[in-house]
Amino acid sequence: MTHTTGHACGTQDGNHTHGPGAASYPDFEWDALYTGDGSDTAAPDPMLLAPAYGLLPGRALDLGCGAGGNALALAERGWRVTGVDLAPRAIASTRASACARGLDDRIELAVADSATWQPETAYDFALSSYALPPRGPARTATLAVLATALAPGGILALGEWDEEACDWGKPGDLATLAELTEALTGLGLDVVRAERQVVPRIQHPSEDHAVIVIARKPHDTLETTG
Ligand SMILES: C[S@@+](CC[C@H](N)C(=O)[O-])C[C@H]1O[C@@H](n2cnc3c(N)ncnc32)[C@H](O)[C@@H]1O
Repeated sequence: MTHTTGHACGTQDGNHTHGPGAASYPDFEWDALYTGDGSDTAAPDPMLLAPAYGLLPGRALDLGCGAGGNALALAERGWRVTGVDLAPRAIASTRASACARGLDDRIELAVADSATWQPETAYDFALSSYALPPRGPARTATLAVLATALAPGGILALGEWDEEACDWGKPGDLATLAELTEALTGLGLDVVRAERQVVPRIQHPSEDHAVIVIARKPHDTLETTG
């Protein structure tokens, strides 16, 4: 089941139980990380948002949006944003922050599993900020959703924790640069940037190792000649 929220501020976004897709993380309670009141909305990630800031504002997707720091930053720049997360409290926090900033008319939210969520429109920019499911069918499906959601010429920005450099995480929780670039190439995207970086950790006063991939969906290369 996907629970898509309306635009009304002050309404509940979920029942605060585990959302659909909890099976992707059988032993991790994402929802418990969030308040649902917007107080946990983090600062946006300038590195992952930079590719969008070079575009004219259009439609953006934040898959695994958490409490909405990136989604709200895009909306503040004029983008129409869809935020998806399986944690109802994360979506409730994004909604609360959007309402507080007067951005609720530019943000659509859904409590859903990124592996099975189906886009209803094509996006000029798609973002996955440290939100991929563990390596396996759910991660593969989520990457395919991101690729499918992009409009021709659309840009994907993907950040994940670097399995080859971080000293935490269970096997398969984090990602390698090679697996992400290979998967995105296999999905028909052109990788325009792929790098390992030390970046600030979300809501932690520390830094850690990340893999960052920026990719573009090609325009149809079939041309008619006359
Ligand atoms: C580390 S947080 C990152 C949140 C946000 N993208 C950010 O950068 O602040 C990971 C988020 O991914 C969400 N998530 C994990 N697995 C998911 C799935 N299968 N479908 C949708 N969201 C998922 C979690 O609920 C959580 O909000």
